Amino acid sequence: MADSSFICPLLLAFLLSIAGLTHGGKTSSFVRKQRKSVCMPINSDVFQEPPGFNSPQQVHITQGNYDGNAVIVSWVTPKYPRSTRVHYWSEKNPSQKKHSHGISTSYKYYNYTSGFIHHCTLKNLAFDTKYYYVLGVGHFRRTFSFTTPPKVGPDVPHTFGVMGDIGQTFDSNTTLTHYMANPKNPQTLLFVGDLSYADDHPFHDNVRWDTWGRFAEKSAAYQAWICAPGNHEIDYAPEIGETTAFKPFLHRYYSPYKDSQSPSPLWYSVRRASAHIIVLSSYSAFAKYSPQHDWLKGELPKVNRTETPWLIVLVHSPLYNSYNYHYMEGEPMRVAFEPWFVEHKVDVVFSGHVHAYERSERISNIDYNITDGLSFPKRNPDAPVYITMGDGGNIEGLAYSMTQPQPAYSAYREASFGHGIFDIKNRTHAYFSWHRNDDGYAVEADSMWFYNRIYYPVDENTDG
Ligand SMILES: *[C@@H]1O[C@H](CO)[C@@H](O)[C@H](O)[C@H]1NC(C)=O
Ligand SMILES: *[C@@H]1O[C@H](CO)[C@@H](O)[C@H](O)[C@H]1NC(C)=O
Ligand SMILES: *[C@@H]1O[C@H](CO)[C@@H](O)[C@H](O)[C@H]1NC(C)=O
Ligand SMILES: *[C@@H]1O[C@H](CO)[C@@H](O)[C@H](O)[C@H]1NC(C)=O
Ligand SMILES: *[C@@H]1O[C@H](CO)[C@@H](O)[C@H](O)[C@H]1NC(C)=O
Repeated sequence: MADSSFICPLLLAFLLSIAGLTHGGKTSSFVRKQRKSVCMPINSDVFQEPPGFNSPQQVHITQGNYDGNAVIVSWVTPKYPRSTRVHYWSEKNPSQKKHSHGISTSYKYYNYTSGFIHHCTLKNLAFDTKYYYVLGVGHFRRTFSFTTPPKVGPDVPHTFGVMGDIGQTFDSNTTLTHYMANPKNPQTLLFVGDLSYADDHPFHDNVRWDTWGRFAEKSAAYQAWICAPGNHEIDYAPEIGETTAFKPFLHRYYSPYKDSQSPSPLWYSVRRASAHIIVLSSYSAFAKYSPQHDWLKGELPKVNRTETPWLIVLVHSPLYNSYNYHYMEGEPMRVAFEPWFVEHKVDVVFSGHVHAYERSERISNIDYNITDGLSFPKRNPDAPVYITMGDGGNIEGLAYSMTQPQPAYSAYREASFGHGIFDIKNRTHAYFSWHRNDDGYAVEADSMWFYNRIYYPVDENTDG
């Protein structure tokens, strides 16, 4: 017994060294000046309604089917329904005008009544083609455009942006502005949840869903935003009689969930260029026998890495998080899904929720069986990298407090607002960069070359 204090540190050092996690990662030396994140006032320029009575507003698009040659267009007309029709044409063929009809919905929330929310799916589009689309009629027409993704294929490059927890503060405005000005020109946004933060306003003031929709339009009307639901989308407020979870979000944001045989718009998958993207819901049941559990179990074996080498997961609450905020909230899902992520060699898991940035090593913690004591994360080349991007700039401010010392699984962490870019080059290489708002648009505060887990599964060796 007398020896144990001597042996244990040695043994521990040995175990850690064979696991390859001898030192912790980097806590950034950049210290952002602490200041409050203040909501932009309701009369701000970015919230202005478009000119014209009942003009279409809050326009946003998302991928409309499994493989990306359809687009769901959504918008609001505030005063009366007007038309659910979308006119559109491809840049290559401007004389061939087409149109589609959609549906219209609205909802009440406490004493708020929404405008008329329209959703229209444009189908059978050509891949890799610029389209123009027109909403509204007469003087109140508004024209937008988007470019469809290239046809799914193993070496198709595609540049994804990543943002989360954005809200509608002056910092949110900086994040979105920097994102849109990034010279890497992201083509599609992976949004890891928490859009408007309307629920932080009295009575979940849903007017803040409308202002947010107008704020985000300058990006969301022109490129697909693929969104995972966050806790600020739940809007469950029994104290004011609102007991239907996700009511505003599900009326306003559609997803092509049926195309991936999902029973719920809150979790689904799509394929885009060379990526298979799985969107999960932290706030829907995921225990064994739940629909989400069974769906994911069936979905992962369907991922065909010959067609889509890159496997990306979006989920709001991070599975690994070394900040003193939301600490271990992601633990139940980690226990439920991490063995599958490793088995199916997920390349990267993007999350939000914690208002900061963090990137992990490739690690797993799946050996623990209650009695064996193997409860430490260790290096695992089959495991994903976990990246937390809860740094969009919302009203709740930054998560400054970190657990100390930095755990070995955490490669880089910093409490600053910013956005990320996941730039897929081909089947073997993708380049991730994180851009903090305090720098110029193009500055990379953190970056990593990703090597694909199927085609080039070598260690990226980011440790140290
Ligand atoms: C938001 O950012 C844009 C682009 O920088 C700017 O034009 C606008 O004035 C900003 N709005 C507010 C309320 O800060
Ligand atoms: C909703 O109720 C709150 C609290 O009573 C009030 O401040 C607000 O003006 C009301 N909004 C509408 C649209 O009636
Ligand atoms: C995966 O995709 C390849 C290429 O399209 C195809 O040949 C193969 O049959 C697919 N595999 C499965 C299991 O569907
Ligand atoms: C847990 O792991 C230990 C050590 O490998 C093994 O002896 C034990 O049988 C395992 N328990 C279960 C329930 O699998
Ligand atoms: C894949 O992209 C990487 C990074 O741009 C490049 O170094 C590599 O040569 C490419 N592979 C092929 C087969 O083109």
